[in-house]
Amino acid sequence: VSSGSMIVVSNRLPFVLKRNEATGRLERKASAGGLVTAVAPVVIQGNGLWVGWPGIHLDDPNEPIPESDPNDQTPTAGLLSKKVVAVHVERGMFDSYYNGCCNGTFWPLFHSMPDRAVFSAEHWKNYYKVNQLFAEKTMSALMSLILEQKDSVATPLVWIHDYHLMLAANWVRQAAEEKDMRCKMGFFLHIPFPPWDIFRLFPWADEILQGMLGNDMVGFHIEDYCLNFVDCCQRRLGCRVDRKGMLVEHGGRTVRVRPLPIGIPFDRFVQLAESAPRVMLTTNQKVVLGVDRLDYTKGLVHRLKAFECLLEKYPEHLEKVTLLQISVPSRTDVKEYQDLKEEMDQLVGRINGRFTTYNWSPIRYIYGCVSQDELAAFYRDAAVAFVTPLRDGMNLVAKEFVACQINEPPGVLVVSPFAGAGEMMHEALICNPYEIHQAADVLHRALTMPEDERTLRMNYLRRREKVHDVNYWMKSFLKAMGSLIEEDGDEV
Ligand code: UDP
Ligand code: G6P
Repeated sequence: VSSGSMIVVSNRLPFVLKRNEATGRLERKASAGGLVTAVAPVVIQGNGLWVGWPGIHLDDPNEPIPESDPNDQTPTAGLLSKKVVAVHVERGMFDSYYNGCCNGTFWPLFHSMPDRAVFSAEHWKNYYKVNQLFAEKTMSALMSLILEQKDSVATPLVWIHDYHLMLAANWVRQAAEEKDMRCKMGFFLHIPFPPWDIFRLFPWADEILQGMLGNDMVGFHIEDYCLNFVDCCQRRLGCRVDRKGMLVEHGGRTVRVRPLPIGIPFDRFVQLAESAPRVMLTTNQKVVLGVDRLDYTKGLVHRLKAFECLLEKYPEHLEKVTLLQISVPSRTDVKEYQDLKEEMDQLVGRINGRFTTYNWSPIRYIYGCVSQDELAAFYRDAAVAFVTPLRDGMNLVAKEFVACQINEPPGVLVVSPFAGAGEMMHEALICNPYEIHQAADVLHRALTMPEDERTLRMNYLRRREKVHDVNYWMKSFLKAMGSLIEEDGDEV
């Protein structure tokens, strides 16, 4: 895939900087999410730039960003430091913007959990300021890019990501217009967009909508989120909208709204699964796998209770089945996340205390991050992936699991209908995590499903994810922006 030059703007850069205690030097620690895998090559090969927070507060913000380690095999390895624009934010302001507003307000609200949301004018003020700062950095990046490529005919593309940066577009657009610079602007939200009656709870809702409408195109994972957004624009701002064509008129411009479900680097996960050594239990026990950031939207408490219920209702699984839960520490400065950690620790202890025998414990609980190479082995060797979010924009874990299911016969995916993935992965077993008893029944069905049914379902699931992989998503985004250059060089 190619496009003209592209500036990607996201809260996090595709790597974090860490200070090596021994040498005192900064080092990159790569992250390997789907977004990075898809977008990094376009930035690396094209004339791209990536604007984002480097994950560290530096005393000297001019300290140079190091190049990647020569042994780095991740997709960001080729991202030269001259293509990276680090946004440094003062510690207190960053805390209020990131922990306060992004993760204390928008995360719960957009996941339709308003009781968990805090509404604070102070946090909102800092969100506003940090968005302004990102916009300024993006604008300078755009200017340098345009100067560098004076002769290029392609219009540069600015692609802003996620709920951290919903206000940035208008400042970039206005500054570009004042300087008579052409650019196209796109936005993608990686989390759900809530329905009107939830969204309207946010006191500064107008400004969010206006911010998002500063783009030429706004993308969401699924159609429901698009319709929620269009609905909010109409009801809150009084915009003229076209629901069928998914268009919103605002300030004399027409903004496209598009469902663009993200995919995974399917082939990369297959390769990882093919080469990964066996890591699982040494016995013949079946493994039910859970992989999540430790986040209250992921339905972890419900999952554990459903598993407990399975052991109660279907004792034939005692000593035969283990729940392996990998919980990645996340947003640990936010109280809701600290509380969940406590609750999970207690629940794991209680369930294990109740059922553990000399030879077996029902739950293996890992509180830590696992590399994707290792994850691939867990995905491959699990009998069931139990994906139970109460709400989730998409859920990549469900997709990565099916990519890695290369064993014959394969395992079974159980997924919640409240994840974007559950909307599309029709051949999975669908399970409502709020109904603990029913969830236990579904899990039992997954564990006892005949081989031919497992194979049939998994084949369909894998085929879909192979075609609709992350490159397909990238292409769809560029197409929706009118910026995809096909092999013959024509813009489509
Ligand atoms: N992941 C990882 N190591 C872990 C757990 C998860 O690298 O120990 C990755 C996983 O492979 C996936 C991502 O984190 O790509 C989680 O994405 P998902 O959409 O499921 O949830 P999110 O964390 O974005 O809410
Ligand atoms: C979700 C969000 C991303 C975010 C990620 C990890 O996937 O959509 O924007 O980067 O969670 O959360 P963190 O707060 O650690 O960046």
